[in-house]
Amino acid sequence: MSPPPIEERDDFRQRRFESIWKEDMDDIFKDVAPYYDRANHVASLGMWSWFSHNFMGMIETRPGLRVLDVCAGTNAVGIALLQREPSLEVHAIDRSRSMQEVGRQRAEALGFHIDSTIGDVHVLPFPDNHFDIVTLQWASRHLRVHDLFREIRRVLKPGGSFHHCDMLRPGNQVVERLYYGYLRASLPVTGLLYRSGPAALNAAKYFIDAIEAFYTTDELTTVLNRAGYREVRAKSLLAGMVGLHRACKPYPDGRCAGTV
Ligand SMILES: C[S@@+](CC[C@H](N)C(=O)[O-])C[C@H]1O[C@@H](n2cnc3c(N)ncnc32)[C@H](O)[C@@H]1O
Repeated sequence: MSPPPIEERDDFRQRRFESIWKEDMDDIFKDVAPYYDRANHVASLGMWSWFSHNFMGMIETRPGLRVLDVCAGTNAVGIALLQREPSLEVHAIDRSRSMQEVGRQRAEALGFHIDSTIGDVHVLPFPDNHFDIVTLQWASRHLRVHDLFREIRRVLKPGGSFHHCDMLRPGNQVVERLYYGYLRASLPVTGLLYRSGPAALNAAKYFIDAIEAFYTTDELTTVLNRAGYREVRAKSLLAGMVGLHRACKPYPDGRCAGTV
């Protein structure tokens, strides 16, 4: 079943998933935090590093830039950026203390510091025009994206760039059927392998429903343009199962070339 039009989609998703977003999300990620990174490599049949390589390839950095990683989880994006450019000032925000604690340990083991804020990302506790780069990876299916993309635009400096990566709705019915069939089979296996607790095991159906109700790569490009971004570039992987976007916050005169 196709979800409603783009302008009604977030309200539809919120009505459908509100109790999970409000009540279960912290328990799910508390449960998966210790094995999150290893499980993703297994569940993606080893493609996790390839996804990350493609996403990182769309992010240009320069020494000293200020970066915010939204829904940072175990700090995968912040660490990858610091490995490339150690002089970056990296900030992370996530509502899960457990995921951020794993992320802090991972960063510190490599000699990096990532400034962590615990909180809901729909309201970002940062000033206007503050960051050169904002990233959001593997999380927007759990969020109201129209509101969040405007909030991210607010904290970005003019000329700054927003980079997004997530599992998206492929839009092609054959691909969708194969995709959801694979997830239906693989999520319980990954759960068993890593001895997931009830919160993560019970979320398997939600993970598929959340993709089915989400946006395609083209729809997300439209959402970004409507949120005021310009020069939106998109890349689809695996026939639209994963979508990558890069978008610029323009200067008041509409120009984009800037800090990054
Ligand atoms: C699948 S993980 C992705 C983590 C990381 N970005 C990565 O690339 O591995 C999703 C993260 O989103 C966070 N999250 C979900 N809803 C959130 C919200 N409303 N506010 C803040 N964090 C949220 C979860 O706590 C979790 O750490």
